[in-house]
Amino acid sequence: MQSLRRPEPRPTGPRPSASRRSEPAPAAPAAQEVPGHAGLRTGASGPALPRRAAADIPVIAHRGASEDVPEHTLAAYEAALFQGADGLECDVRLTADMHLVCVHDRRVNRTSNGRGVVSTLELAQLRQLDFGSWKQPPGDSEYVEVPDLRREGAHRVLTLERLLELVVDHPRRVEMAIETKHPTRYAGLVEEHLVALLDRFGLAHPRLGERSPVRVMSFSAMSVRRIRRLAPSLETVLLLDRVPLRFRDGSLPRGARIAGPGIHILRTHPEYVARAHSMGNRVHVWTVDQASDIDLCVELGVDAIISNRPQAVLARLGRGGSRVSAEAHPGVIGLNPDKP
Ligand code: G3P
Ligand code: CA
Repeated sequence: MQSLRRPEPRPTGPRPSASRRSEPAPAAPAAQEVPGHAGLRTGASGPALPRRAAADIPVIAHRGASEDVPEHTLAAYEAALFQGADGLECDVRLTADMHLVCVHDRRVNRTSNGRGVVSTLELAQLRQLDFGSWKQPPGDSEYVEVPDLRREGAHRVLTLERLLELVVDHPRRVEMAIETKHPTRYAGLVEEHLVALLDRFGLAHPRLGERSPVRVMSFSAMSVRRIRRLAPSLETVLLLDRVPLRFRDGSLPRGARIAGPGIHILRTHPEYVARAHSMGNRVHVWTVDQASDIDLCVELGVDAIISNRPQAVLARLGRGGSRVSAEAHPGVIGLNPDKP
């Protein structure tokens, strides 16, 4: 296994001050009964958490503003920030030459004009591909404004490094939910390279009392454990496609404090959120695009909504119009020309 040396911070480009990269850790809430769910016990993980109000639920752009703009491209993330998303979600994979790139599938076939397995291709090869032209412009979606997507590079493969630059250079604090994809031939090298990269940005080891804007998510409990070993103060999310029997009381494996259930779980088991809260665990839900699902998340008081449609979610939460100023994005264009 390749060993990684803790690198020096990048010497070039503007970097944010430490205060923008981290914020004080929230004080642990006092133990209390979960509203509307009397009788649920407080678990061993920590004191019960209160249910969140709609306006306080962070909206995380899933693969960027990916309903409107090709997923995992710089353009998709710029669009999400322009629309006012509180955070960005991305999937990461290692290339053959050990670069972390933002690609969901094991292969590039669906989202580019090329073919092949990400882990067998070098970054230079991936850079030859077009990750944008596969996606049709939105037809019947709502009118959305996004930065100009046609410029050079907007649709090329996105490295995690470039995405982190976008985040730390942004004028407001932006959360990052980075998902490690497993299984992969590189196994634990993914987490090693990820933590080393985050470290370069000063994001892997927040000081005592501060919280990194980055959290790492995975369906792999092993990956979550690796992150906790390499970067113990980084928040982790255990993603859940289904809730195993032993965790149906809202508990999580030791060390994990955030559950990441799919919205399909909450549709059939809405009580899961209160149970997790009763155990002191937070709940980040994916992928929440429909109005009825957004409303369900609000009703249950989840702790983050991850959506392909951040603008629509913000509007439904009563936070429409929270976009940054157009001056910061001079090339703003409308994406649905059929609507005024
Ligand atoms: O945010 C979690 C969600 O992205 C997990 O599913 O397949 O979209 O990566 P997937
Ligand atoms: Ca993902």
